[in-house]
Amino acid sequence: MSMNLVREDFPLISNDTIDYLDSAATCQKPIAVVDSMSKFMLEQNSTVRRGVYDLAVKATQEFDNARSSIQKFINAKSSCEVIFTRGATEGLNMIAYTLCQALKGKAGVDATNGRSSKLKTNGKIKIAISEMEHHANIVPWQMQASLHDDIEIVIIPILDNGELDLDALKKILNDKELKVLAITHTSNVLGTVNPIEEISKLAHANGVIVVLDACQAIAHKALDVQKLDVDFMVFSAHKIYGPTGIGAVFAKEELLNELPPYHGGGDMIETVSFEKTTYTNLPNKFEAGTPAIVETIGFGAAIKYISKIGFDKIYEHEQKLLEMANQELNKFEKIKIIGQSRNKIGIVSFVFDDIEAFDIGTMLNQHKVAIRTGHHCAQPLMKRFGISACSRLSIGVYNNENDIAKFISALEKTIKMFR
Ligand SMILES: Cc1ncc(COP(=O)(O)O)c(C=O)c1O
Repeated sequence: MSMNLVREDFPLISNDTIDYLDSAATCQKPIAVVDSMSKFMLEQNSTVRRGVYDLAVKATQEFDNARSSIQKFINAKSSCEVIFTRGATEGLNMIAYTLCQALKGKAGVDATNGRSSKLKTNGKIKIAISEMEHHANIVPWQMQASLHDDIEIVIIPILDNGELDLDALKKILNDKELKVLAITHTSNVLGTVNPIEEISKLAHANGVIVVLDACQAIAHKALDVQKLDVDFMVFSAHKIYGPTGIGAVFAKEELLNELPPYHGGGDMIETVSFEKTTYTNLPNKFEAGTPAIVETIGFGAAIKYISKIGFDKIYEHEQKLLEMANQELNKFEKIKIIGQSRNKIGIVSFVFDDIEAFDIGTMLNQHKVAIRTGHHCAQPLMKRFGISACSRLSIGVYNNENDIAKFISALEKTIKMFR
């Protein structure tokens, strides 16, 4: 499929009434995703995993197919390694809570259906996160640390060019008390792509569990969980052209079996009595209650849509636009690009010495250009670069050179106004 034709699949932007450069916040939705969801609601709607009637059986099949599509997309060994959540944020909260419970030996024999968790550890539990994390991969771990005196957060520094300080990371990984490394694949501000395969190898050589935040990578690069060899990975559907309210946690099956459930309720049990409850098998053990069925169907459709285009084409297209944006932005005076890593996806963040990010965003909006301004849910990263906010453009499959040219032209007009 030609990338020009891809744009036609997105009615909200294909008529050129808006220059949408905020896909890192959320992606626009292709017709295929919207159609899959409306078809389900109009023709196939029923609950899943419960009814014996034809409609419910068919709905359950569609729901299961979405899980299988995601399993294949990330090359997980089994579909029970894919757990649906409300999004990456819920996924990271689930991992932080259940993993810390297990590490603290609080998973309980009941929680793991008769096994006592092998994850139990004595003494201090250190968890490493990096300076470039989104708040979603900071706060859930901090909440655990505030509940347990022996859990400590360790920070991996980054270099001035926005790359991870790998020497510092190696030292941190050598610490015998370090149990978990929770890290982003790609920074939502810097665009930096971290060398996850290499990092996983180092972490596992030291017996450290790797949790990967793949939110900003999932729509731009093929992510093979077996090749990356991560223990956990999270992402949200809305960052890969799917609906909001749904995301996935990948986790190795043996680890999921060692963790206690996160939410309790219907669907995640085997037996319930007032004396004792036993939990069911994966993936249902982690999916209490009626799931987001329609959103899951849309998630599956989004994965199919992106797979059809293919990452080779997507990567080449987006890198071309990234290079153009970078080159054009560098021509401005008094500009600083935040994040100059050698390996980036289509994100460019910038500040001007003399104009506030908020003013840039507001004025660009007058020209129908949509970019994000603010702290980008990464306040520690803003602090690292001595700023409180920045402007960020981010690229999706539907963007073209004209979008970047329009943005640059609107930025020129904006700057003239302020200087
Ligand atoms: C790197 C990163 N991690 C986590 C999240 C949280 O994703 P969500 O808000 O979909 O849960 C985001 C969202 O912007 C992100 O960019």
